[in-house]
Amino acid sequence: MDPIRNPYAPGAGQRPPELAGRDEQLRAFDVVLERIARGRPERSIVLTGLRGVGKTVLLNALRSAAVRAHWGTGKLEARPDQRLRRPLSAALHTAVRELGHAQSAEVDHVLGVIKAFAQREAPANAKLRDRWQPGIDAAAVPGRADSGDIEIDLVELLTDVGGLAADVGKGVGVFIDEMQDLDPEDVSALCAACHEISQSGLPVIVVGAGLPHLPAVLSASKSYSERLFRYNRIDRLDRAAADRALQSPAKDEDAEFDDEALEAMYAATAGYPYFVQAYGKVAWDVAVGTPISAEDVRVAAPEAEAELAVGFFGSRYERATPAEREYLRAMADAALAEVEALGEDASVDEVGSVPTAAVASILGRKPQSLSPARDALLKKGLIYSGERGRIAFTVPHFGRYLRAHG
Ligand SMILES: Nc1ncnc2c1ncn2[C@@H]1O[C@H](COP(=O)(O)OP(=O)(O)OP(=O)(O)O)[C@@H](O)[C@H]1O
Ligand SMILES: [Mg+2]
Repeated sequence: MDPIRNPYAPGAGQRPPELAGRDEQLRAFDVVLERIARGRPERSIVLTGLRGVGKTVLLNALRSAAVRAHWGTGKLEARPDQRLRRPLSAALHTAVRELGHAQSAEVDHVLGVIKAFAQREAPANAKLRDRWQPGIDAAAVPGRADSGDIEIDLVELLTDVGGLAADVGKGVGVFIDEMQDLDPEDVSALCAACHEISQSGLPVIVVGAGLPHLPAVLSASKSYSERLFRYNRIDRLDRAAADRALQSPAKDEDAEFDDEALEAMYAATAGYPYFVQAYGKVAWDVAVGTPISAEDVRVAAPEAEAELAVGFFGSRYERATPAEREYLRAMADAALAEVEALGEDASVDEVGSVPTAAVASILGRKPQSLSPARDALLKKGLIYSGERGRIAFTVPHFGRYLRAHG
């Protein structure tokens, strides 16, 4: 059918034509916004899940909900080896502007505090030209949020920003994607600051998104983090939601999938949102007319898989060095061995994690000698460890891909 009217949107962070299966999270978030605006205690929120399940897209949708409630919002994406000061100050700069507070002197003061916080990244004696200029049109306010102790500085910063929001009866939302990549010292300081802020009843909330081990990262940092954050596991779509993700955009373009096509789609995608979009896109293009049939899905499959192999799997695989790739392949083999041990009904895609010892024995190596490869893969976000001694792929169906492209 007409590729110009193709509604599907495979791609990292691409807004789907229909955000299916997330009504519960959206509704719960509206309650959180309302409660915080009224000074009620609420935990910050953390979305976790595998690659491609729709964390970024949901995070963006929650941010839009906050904007609709006239909150000030800002977003950042954490990166390994980058500290929090710069991206957080840029996010808060946006948030303060969005608040639209009328008292310009107070706004300038808070902007000045944000600037002081940002500039503290450079050593205090750095020359002016070596300091980062955050593009904030206010004079830095020395002596506030610039002690150099990130925990103290965050508390002061969020207190001032929260105070400004409280003045106008709104709140501030800081949205952090790839939160597992925050520097450990920053994570710890952020937890402490959230703790402090929630106790003082200020309307500031952090909404994070990250890989499945993010809760472990947070609780390793601060034991009270479980009380601080509400963890929300984002998963693949169930059959009804996956059908809606495909059918509703098709109908908006005066087309539809027939029942068998929907069944074939679910068998191929297992409801993983990225796969749903990728298959939907190709199925639309190859279909001659409406309704899109199971035969269309069958014809579309090789092209959809080829695109996933490049755009979803390959782009991750390429980040791994040869030694790391060997490790990944051994993980896939270890998963296969687990399935064989489990018996006939098990499918390899259901095997969540494998013992690191099994990977080592497949490679005929001592586990310790593999730690550099494993640590690098963890850092690159290709694998995660939810429990001690076990590891899993962050990318769904990665084992299958590796076996097919070994
Ligand atoms: N609820 C949904 N319904 C339909 N499609 C969705 C949904 N959520 C996400 N998608 C689609 O899935 C794809 C992946 O979404 P997104 O980039 O948000 O995943 P992610 O979890 O952030 O992945 P990563 O861990 O790689 O960052 C996008 O093409 C998006 O359009
Ligand atoms: Mg993402």
